[in-house]
Amino acid sequence: MQRKPFTYLILITSFFIAIGFFIYYYQQMQVNDQKMQEAITAETPLPTYHFALIGEEMNHDYWRLVGEGAKKTESEYDVFVEYDAPKRSNPEEQLKLFDMAIKSKVDGIIVQALNDHFTPMINKAVREGIPVVTIDTDSPGSSRHAYVGTDNYQAGRLAGEALVTDTNGTATVGIISGSLDNPHHQLRLQGFKDVVENMEGIEIVAIEESNITRVEAEEKAYSMLTEHQDITAFYGTSSYNGLGIVAAAESLEKKDDMYVITFDTIDENIELLEEGDIDAIVEQHPFEMGNQSIRTMLDIVNDRQIQNVFHTDSSIVRKENLAGWKAKRMAAND
Ligand code: BGC
Repeated sequence: MQRKPFTYLILITSFFIAIGFFIYYYQQMQVNDQKMQEAITAETPLPTYHFALIGEEMNHDYWRLVGEGAKKTESEYDVFVEYDAPKRSNPEEQLKLFDMAIKSKVDGIIVQALNDHFTPMINKAVREGIPVVTIDTDSPGSSRHAYVGTDNYQAGRLAGEALVTDTNGTATVGIISGSLDNPHHQLRLQGFKDVVENMEGIEIVAIEESNITRVEAEEKAYSMLTEHQDITAFYGTSSYNGLGIVAAAESLEKKDDMYVITFDTIDENIELLEEGDIDAIVEQHPFEMGNQSIRTMLDIVNDRQIQNVFHTDSSIVRKENLAGWKAKRMAAND
């Protein structure tokens, strides 16, 4: 009986201590929340410009470099670059991404104008006040503000000249284009033809498309080689065509005598060049394209003068100049 008041005293004291702790920790939490909020708003103000960059294919070495070049500008300028692309090349999906970027009212859109259907969409964006820069593939008939990328016709000519030199002007040629519909591949084909068609010893016997996949390039090269057993040289106009061509020539035991020229210095092409299975590569500069496209867009939104057509370099890489090329690439990080 005597212990009861003492127990009550302990219970009441514990109750007040618990309330005290609760109030203290609640206040501390409020202070921390406020500090965090202040820190977030002070440290990460949203960049002034939000640009959308829409490429052809997300999981592709070439487009990964375009994206990296573009994203690099975020550390130098007041800009956020939203880079997106279909998982696999798919113009309809690419157009949907384009439309979504217009609807979300970004400050600028950089897009690969893969075919004619992109022209009305570019014009729509510009009508709605969103500047557009085309990248890699141009749409000169649209109201785009600028194009940043390879001079594709000239790059095709370079390929033709390299083939003429390396084969001493004698070759029976099969061509694997990335696509027969896309303007940049058409220009690469036209440039090539304009050079080799003047040569008596050179004949183009077949032209097919790979839809920029290695598998289709291999299938098409294989059936070409079976139909035209006299083919001595191949020209591929996109990144993975060389890999497909070499694989097809290998299965038909024609690899050693085949001359192969293809586009893009992706790692696998460089390895095949080192091994002597690819003879020459037309180099483009995807990292620089991505980077320059954002700089051009920043000039546009800031009303600064721009170069409407900004051609990034293209050149021929052969095994003989590979060491110099590697050293230059390491220095340039492209
Ligand atoms: C072209 C890109 C294309 C890529 C695919 C490049 O040579 O410039 O447009 O997406 O090849 O392989």
